[in-house]
Amino acid sequence: RRVVVLISGSGSNLQALIDAQSHDELGGEIVAVVSNVADAHGLVRARDAGIDAVALPHREYDSREAYDGALIKVIDRHQPDLIVLAGFMRILTPRFVQRYLGRMLNIHPSLLPAYQGLNTHAKALADGIAEHGCSVHFVTEELDSGPVVIQAVVDIVDGETEASLQQKVHSREHLIYPIAVKWFLEGRLQLEGEGATLDGTRL
Ligand code: GRF
Repeated sequence: RRVVVLISGSGSNLQALIDAQSHDELGGEIVAVVSNVADAHGLVRARDAGIDAVALPHREYDSREAYDGALIKVIDRHQPDLIVLAGFMRILTPRFVQRYLGRMLNIHPSLLPAYQGLNTHAKALADGIAEHGCSVHFVTEELDSGPVVIQAVVDIVDGETEASLQQKVHSREHLIYPIAVKWFLEGRLQLEGEGATLDGTRL
C-alpha cells in the first residue's frame, strides 16, 4: 500500500510515520512527500529516509484551483492508496477533496469538534478547560470537520503554557497518527457517509 504525505513545516508527524515504517509498523510505504513550502524541514527528513521529496511552492500559482490541480498531478504520479496531511497548512479546494474523499486523513491539534482552525492551544488555555488533545480525521470539504477516527487526551495542568501544551499534544500526535494510518492501510478504517468505521463498527 502506497502513501503520499503532504507537509508545510517541521514534519515531526512525518518523522513518526517514517519511524513506524522503518519498524514495519505502518502497513505500507511512504512513496513521496510533497511540501508547499520549499525550505520545509520535513523535506530533509524525507530525503534522509530515501523518500522522494517534492517542493511545490504555492506562490508560483495564480489561484487555489491552479495549485491544487498541479498538486493532483504530482500526487497521482505516485498512485497512492492514502493521502496523509501532516501539518499541511493549506485550505483545499472542493475538487481536491472530492478526488481523494475517503482516502485522505488529517491531524489536528485539538479534541475535535472543539477548536477547529488555528491557535488551538491558546484557545484551550483561554477557556480554562481541563482536557485538550489531538484528533485524526477523514478530510471532507468543510475544514477540520470530517469524521474523527482516533484522539488522544492530555490534561491541562496548573502553570501550563502554550509552549508546554503544544509539546504535550505534539508527542501524542506522534503516537496516534501511525496507528490511524496503519488501520487505514490494513483496510480496517472507512469513511461511510457522515461517519467513520473501524472493522465495520461506527466510531
Ligand atoms: C501539528 O500540530 C498538526 O496537528 C498541525 O500542524 C502541526 C504539524 O507539525 N496540523 P509537524 O510539522 O508534524 O511537526
